[in-house]
Amino acid sequence: MVVLEPFQVEVWMDRYENTPGVINISETCSASISIDELVSLSASPKDQSTASIPIDKSTVLGYGPIKGSQMLKERISAVYQMHAQASSSPPLPPDNILVTQGAISANFLVLYTLLGHGDHVVCVHPTYAQLYAVPQSLGAYVSLWKLKKEKGFIPDVAELESLMIIINNPNNPSGAAIPESVLKSIVDFARSRDIIVFCDEVYWPLFHSLTPGIETPASILTYGYDKVISTGSMSKTYALAGLRLGWVACRDPAIVSAIASARDYTTISVSQLDDQVARYALSEPVLPNLLKRNLDMARTNLEVLDQFVQKHAHVCSWVRPNAGTTAFVQFLGKDGEPVKDDEFCVDVLNRCKAMMVPGGLCFGLDDFPGYVRIGYVCHTQQLKEGLEALSGYLVQRFESKD
Ligand SMILES: Cc1ncc(COP(=O)(O)O)c(C=O)c1O
Repeated sequence: MVVLEPFQVEVWMDRYENTPGVINISETCSASISIDELVSLSASPKDQSTASIPIDKSTVLGYGPIKGSQMLKERISAVYQMHAQASSSPPLPPDNILVTQGAISANFLVLYTLLGHGDHVVCVHPTYAQLYAVPQSLGAYVSLWKLKKEKGFIPDVAELESLMIIINNPNNPSGAAIPESVLKSIVDFARSRDIIVFCDEVYWPLFHSLTPGIETPASILTYGYDKVISTGSMSKTYALAGLRLGWVACRDPAIVSAIASARDYTTISVSQLDDQVARYALSEPVLPNLLKRNLDMARTNLEVLDQFVQKHAHVCSWVRPNAGTTAFVQFLGKDGEPVKDDEFCVDVLNRCKAMMVPGGLCFGLDDFPGYVRIGYVCHTQQLKEGLEALSGYLVQRFESKD
């Protein structure tokens, strides 16, 4: 039997997110969007006048194109060209894309296809636990590439040696973007040793708070190395998690074909309705406005969270995120010691209904004492309510004199 540790972050969300009255400030998706709101973002007057999504009602609901519709794959390919002006990278052929049920399936397929007993993998840590737990379950030897707060959660290339390198950019939970120079070093290192680089890019290109003057980094697929695999999704950056639609993309046709063979055993195809909505969201009149909505929301909300962290600076600290949807915040108790993260999160939830994710429990117990993940790209009002409740808790429990 395959041995897999419980996926703690999913267990936690499932256990607590339906608590009556919960104020959820733990969600990693940009505030999810309805079909009505998606249509309202379209710059096409035709969509505005019909006020509905142009689903082709004559589509026969058979399996449809096995690897995803041509139009959706073309639009995903165009997404990869965004921010690639500076590189000479050619567009990714749509046939090098496999559409999947969310990035969770895309990630699983990549790992299941390419890793086996005894393979050596280096995976950034902390990150989405699937990225190191699945390789472990397949018998791979996994070295955790520890990201350190002192280094702004940016990986140190000097620490690298492996067969597959797994990164996640922007990172969940820290919300740190890997600078282009570091990404380039990782790719150069991999190229010189013929190593595969697998980058989970579900939060790309949500770079909302880079230092002024720094351009939005292009996808790692444009760095000119064929053995780079990217996974993406409609869930986080595009606020459409309910579609359950993601993808794998790679320039090496042999890798794509190997993953496609494994995919045949688990997927067949994605829902034809989901494929159509995803195509619409990534279409020219909609995509820029959808991205703008989520980038604006992230910037506004990060300011709100920043004010909260500053106000409670003696009991909480962080590396201010510059991308993605999550922040990793360390909380200290009354005694000045890091809180016990899971007990703290349950106590906060019980007393004031604000829901967060315990970092130690969900991302690795020893390295991150007192760390909690906050998902802040929810509706601004919800974030404000959650932080206000948390603020009251901190004042009462940790900051009062008695
Ligand atoms: C880094 C990362 N990868 C993949 C996923 C799965 O996303 P999806 O909804 O596309 O399956 C998540 C979800 O939280 C994530 O944070």
